[in-house]
Amino acid sequence: MLPKKLQNKLETRKEENALRRLGSSNLLVDFSSNDYLGYSQSKDIFKQTHSLMHEENIEANGATGSRLLSGNHPLYKLLESNLCKIHLSEASLVFNSGYTANLGLISSVSQRGDIVLYDELCHASIRDAIGMSHAKSYKFQHNNLKDLQSLLEKYSLESDRTIYVITESVFSMDGDTPDLSGLIKLTKSYGAHCIIDEAHALGVFKFGLVQSLGLQEKVFARIVTFGKAMGCHGAAILGSKDLKTYLVNFSRPFIYTTGLPPHAIASIISAYNYLQLNSNDKALAKVISYFKDQIEANKLSQLFIESSSAIQCAVISGNDRVKRISQKLQEVGFDVKPILSPTVSKGKERLRFCLHTYNSKEEISEVLRLLATFV
Ligand SMILES: Cc1ncc(COP(=O)(O)O)c(C=O)c1O
Repeated sequence: MLPKKLQNKLETRKEENALRRLGSSNLLVDFSSNDYLGYSQSKDIFKQTHSLMHEENIEANGATGSRLLSGNHPLYKLLESNLCKIHLSEASLVFNSGYTANLGLISSVSQRGDIVLYDELCHASIRDAIGMSHAKSYKFQHNNLKDLQSLLEKYSLESDRTIYVITESVFSMDGDTPDLSGLIKLTKSYGAHCIIDEAHALGVFKFGLVQSLGLQEKVFARIVTFGKAMGCHGAAILGSKDLKTYLVNFSRPFIYTTGLPPHAIASIISAYNYLQLNSNDKALAKVISYFKDQIEANKLSQLFIESSSAIQCAVISGNDRVKRISQKLQEVGFDVKPILSPTVSKGKERLRFCLHTYNSKEEISEVLRLLATFV
């Protein structure tokens, strides 16, 4: 039996129709995975990874230890130097996942007395990281530079404190993007440090949105993750050499865990080779543009959050209602997942459509035609 308090929490979840369950994979049309470019299923990437393992004589199954002890396989060096070249970064440090990269960066750099300003819709990994740090934190309204400015104004008065501003270049539950140029400029003008999570931008917008705007040198750190468009697993923090040295010394989620297995590193190297040589992002842009046209054609614009990314969300209030519509779409073959409260705030529950290079026009027009009849 679970302790009473835990049992009560589960009961509340059930009453709110928000109990999470592990599902199994299915054969429905994929409007739900983060495999935006189809890389997780790419035979070419799989074969390249295999060849690289063969060339490097790798027959190991696991890393055997933390990267600081026995787990720093030579392939890490190759991957991190590739990442620096591709992402135009002075240094890069690979972490086991995006979740641990955010924990490892934010919890270790922000010190007691420092201030962390973050967008109110930032991912759970960012909020958990802030919770682990000793700095004071304040959220600003979603993508609202005026609100951010008033916080910067208020907290920049004391000169001995460092201010970090954290946001995402594509929001995971909304798919939208802040005015990155404006935000980075504003942050710099107050001498604050900008951290941008590019989890849902890498691959979708080639090497990420910061880089596409040429702003990589103006930010303190970028987080890129490999489990989404790259179709693999892991993440990296891109920043200065000094930041890398600091993280290797003080980032507990980096230090106290077993490194990624060598084949995971090899697959990231192969996925990047593939991304550099191919223009799958252009094919994805066409899919996104077609989806947006179909939103208009089906008169659904008022439901959808404005987004030019591969994440397109239709707000359908209420856990019961959004679950029911998702269920109906699943029954006719479309895997569109409901995002429930408390993952998003009450009243802002939504259907989240993740778009992929392999989604056909017919699938898109049919799923939106059906949605228009269900809402
Ligand atoms: C914005 C953002 N950052 C970080 C993560 C965590 O990345 P990972 O899945 O590699 O742990 C996610 C995953 O959903 C995300 O959406």
